[in-house]
Amino acid sequence: MTQTERTVFVNGDYCLESEAKVSIFDRGFLFADAIYEVTCVIGGKLVDFHSHMARLKRSLGELDMATPLDEAGILAAHRRLVELNGIDEGLIYMQISRGAADRDFTFPAAGTVPTIVMFTQKRPVIESPYPKRGIAVISMPDIRWGRRDIKTVQLLYSSIAKNEASKAGADDAWLVQDGFVTEASSANAYIVTTEGRIVTRALSNDVLHGITRASVLSFAAESGFVFEERSFTLDEAKAAKEAFITSATSFVTAVVRIDDTPIGDGTVGPVSKRLREIYIDRAVGAAI
Ligand code: PDD
Repeated sequence: MTQTERTVFVNGDYCLESEAKVSIFDRGFLFADAIYEVTCVIGGKLVDFHSHMARLKRSLGELDMATPLDEAGILAAHRRLVELNGIDEGLIYMQISRGAADRDFTFPAAGTVPTIVMFTQKRPVIESPYPKRGIAVISMPDIRWGRRDIKTVQLLYSSIAKNEASKAGADDAWLVQDGFVTEASSANAYIVTTEGRIVTRALSNDVLHGITRASVLSFAAESGFVFEERSFTLDEAKAAKEAFITSATSFVTAVVRIDDTPIGDGTVGPVSKRLREIYIDRAVGAAI
């Protein structure tokens, strides 16, 4: 065996990934009736952990879903998985579903025990090749449901979009609704105008309220960058000086091409480069 099996977390137990079991009646499996969080690990520490937990609580609340573990319990489990799997750089995926019940569209009776699973993935984040070369994106219509602010596991369209991007020789897709960019398939989307202003769509039910977005915007403001939270069109993005995305796993990553249009001079621009440095310095510096 070249790679040892990971230890994963399933409903309070730590077990080998080949031994982990979830019911076929789990509502996450049958109805995508589950929410999740992805937290980045750098140097064995959790980046923006408390903010991810705040969003988790909000997602649970919006869906009237219970959690089997409080924040201290989730933190302890995250730390144990990092240690057991020797994660220096990568991520922790955590999913909570409404639990297992015989298949019925109506929510099951109160008292159904939620399912909670967590696993780690090792992957380069700081040393990722993407931020060095910048990514290419294609545009696609945003046909996802109307509550994208809730971090549900209903990710089929995001998966299709990324797959289409890959088939087109690109890295990701930017989703467009009524002519305006909403977000990327699994990241928030930004442009830098010719006047140097950073623009990203305002928070609403149309986009996920990115944790990296919140950190980057607050660090950007402290560092003297000017930003506007407003919608921008695909045409405005194609004419922008720079474009970039943010997420827990990409931090700040420049977008250097949208469809067939190079952005700016088609290379990683100074604003996205600087914001990435600031985010790494501040957020990774404060990881717990
Ligand atoms: N995705 N928008 C969407 C649709 C996302 O799926 C994500 C994150 C983001 C960025 O949010 P944050 O900064 O909190 O990671 C925006 C994660 C990384 C994923 O699904 O793997």
